[in-house]
Amino acid sequence: MLQLENLSVRYGSFRALNDVSLHADEGELVVLLGANGAGKSSIFLTVSGLNKPAGGAIRLKGKEIGGMKPSKIVRSGVVHCPEGRKLFPKMSVMKNLTLGAYVYSRDQVGVRRSLEEVFELFPILRDKRYEAAGSLSGGQQQMVAIGRALMGRPKILLLDEPSLGLAPLVVKQVLDVVKKINENGTTVLLAEQNAFAALKIAHRAYVIEGGRIVMEGESDTLLHDENVRKAYIGA
Ligand SMILES: Nc1ncnc2c1ncn2[C@@H]1O[C@H](COP(=O)(O)OP(=O)(O)O)[C@@H](O)[C@H]1O
Ligand SMILES: [Mg+2]
Repeated sequence: MLQLENLSVRYGSFRALNDVSLHADEGELVVLLGANGAGKSSIFLTVSGLNKPAGGAIRLKGKEIGGMKPSKIVRSGVVHCPEGRKLFPKMSVMKNLTLGAYVYSRDQVGVRRSLEEVFELFPILRDKRYEAAGSLSGGQQQMVAIGRALMGRPKILLLDEPSLGLAPLVVKQVLDVVKKINENGTTVLLAEQNAFAALKIAHRAYVIEGGRIVMEGESDTLLHDENVRKAYIGA
């Protein structure tokens, strides 16, 4: 589905990503583990066209998408749910959600159908649809952010730290929803610092440190790996 080959990204002279190669196959839930500053968000920003790659290739179903316009990348099926949610707090939940379908604004029937799907996944958002997004709890705001991404009709969803800043019980709810979205057929690439919970729902994982992939494997293997446990799980 999505394949990165020797992707490099620079901010000025700083090399944020060095020869990053990874892939997510159709139907997979792949997690990207790494500490703050490792380069997770840089990967997502580059795949979704907001950063320009300095080198390497980004392919979706074999077709190069590196350097394409963000709106074209969304249309091709890559949708990014950014770190920190990035909602419009004064706008209603409904308005925030429909913004996620901006590339499909000529297809209002389709937009309504997507909205219905999001409300089925997150019934609480239907109840709160006319409330300001900023008035919702942290977990509910994350649901709006994920819902907005789903409105973009992802074939592959890039989810950047959806559990950031949420209480443990809410983290579990959010990751359960991520798992469900994947089971419903959407390929997911998930960045998480919550390694244990993320590995529990993922099929495979990559570990990124200092802009390089340093480890990859099946989730089960990484869950039991001594170094991963020490560095990311704390057991
Ligand atoms: N816009 C930017 N300009 C300069 N440096 C940046 C920028 N964005 C990120 N960085 C740096 O790139 C590195 C990777 O950051 P990031 O991709 O945000 O990591 P993560 O998401 O894993 O925390 C960090 O050292 C960060 O400080
Ligand atoms: Mg980040």
